[in-house]
Amino acid sequence: MNQERTFRVIFETCQEGIIVVNTEGTIVLANQACNNMFGYLQDELVGQGIEKLIPVPMRTPHIEHRHQYAQNPVPRQMGAGRDLRGLKKNGVEFPVEISLNRAVLKESEHTVAFIIDITQRKRMEDALKRSEKQLISYATELESRVEERTEELDHTIAALEKINRDMEEQINVRINAENEAKKALDRERELNELKSRFVSMASHEFRTPLSTILSSASLIEKYDDPSNEPKRRRHVHKIKSAISNLQQILDDFLSLSKLEEGRVDLKRSEVNVSEVIEEVIDELSSLTPENQAIRLLIKGKETLLNSDDKIIKNILINLISNGIKYSEKDIDVILNYSRASLDIKVKDQGMGIPEGDQKHMFERFFRAKNAINIQGTGLGLNIVKKYVDMLGGTIDFVSKLNKGTTFIVNLPIETGKEPETNLSDTVNEKNINY
Ligand SMILES: Nc1ncnc2c1ncn2[C@@H]1O[C@H](COP(=O)(O)OP(=O)(O)O)[C@@H](O)[C@H]1O
Ligand SMILES: [Mg+2]
Repeated sequence: MNQERTFRVIFETCQEGIIVVNTEGTIVLANQACNNMFGYLQDELVGQGIEKLIPVPMRTPHIEHRHQYAQNPVPRQMGAGRDLRGLKKNGVEFPVEISLNRAVLKESEHTVAFIIDITQRKRMEDALKRSEKQLISYATELESRVEERTEELDHTIAALEKINRDMEEQINVRINAENEAKKALDRERELNELKSRFVSMASHEFRTPLSTILSSASLIEKYDDPSNEPKRRRHVHKIKSAISNLQQILDDFLSLSKLEEGRVDLKRSEVNVSEVIEEVIDELSSLTPENQAIRLLIKGKETLLNSDDKIIKNILINLISNGIKYSEKDIDVILNYSRASLDIKVKDQGMGIPEGDQKHMFERFFRAKNAINIQGTGLGLNIVKKYVDMLGGTIDFVSKLNKGTTFIVNLPIETGKEPETNLSDTVNEKNINY
């Protein structure tokens, strides 16, 4: 096969369209692929102007480009960056890719164009672009849906959290109400128990003073002779102390049930404790036998207390009447003022409290072994302890069997004010006998 035939075969069988154009723009050669691409028969294109293969609007610019290429005929890609289009014989346009080369054939300048039909590639590219766009819009939509869902979820979570909180609150309210009810029930139960214990105690304790009163009254009736005056006085005293016992029992019970029901309110004012003591001693003196004195001793600078005088009075009545009851000798009430607090000591020289019983002293209904034959409820000290707690104070005692007992109440002062008539003004220590 000679060389020219070889080239011819290559030329004709090449898959790319090859077209050779002279300087006038006339087609001098077109291969099979090119004819197929543009829809022409063999050799039909030869002699035609190259612009025949170009869509009408592009023809004029193409002529321009062709002249420019002729000035600078370096091999290059045609229409870089632009979409090139070819025109088929049947008028259909299609996308092409073209590279240009310069060739000298038969001693004259020619341009060789290699043409590829890129319809397929374009279609794929477009499809790719479309699906890319679709993907992007899908992703965007998805994103916004996720956002929406997240927001919805946030709302739902917030609503659930609120429901949770509300429920917790409701549960707490219910628990609190239940606790309150339980407490109220316990209190009620305790109060009922207290009342029934009291009733059995009182019916027992009432009998003795009542029978004392009855027998003493009958005896007084009999002792009408003036010579019996000392006997009559003794029985009058017996009656008075029996009545006082009854009164004490009722007072104890009343105070305790008030305390238990929370009906005791603190009413604070400026309290002069020595005045309160004078009142108490006054009230109790009718009960003390003639040979039993109550002495008041004041130490330190007298100061008014920011406290409740009625409660202080109740505390003192209890402690001093215990002193009277459990001792036949004199009783000392000692006030000892310091800067911040007042010590009130009630000291007797009576029967004392057995050591083994001492730890139960403030328990309700507790009575020491050696006090069994003396009237009492066993409530007084329990009440006193509660009162002292209310006043923010403390209570303690020391006792020795058959030697005596001293109760010490310490109360906060909280005013720093002095009373107008100060018993300890003139002497630092004053001893007052009643
Ligand atoms: N000053 C005292 N001396 C001896 N014993 C006392 C004295 N004060 C209280 N007690 C003992 O403490 C008990 C409880 O006292 P209290 O609560 O006042 O009840 P009550 O005087 O009604 O028995 C008394 O029964 C007694 O045994
Ligand atoms: Mg008592």
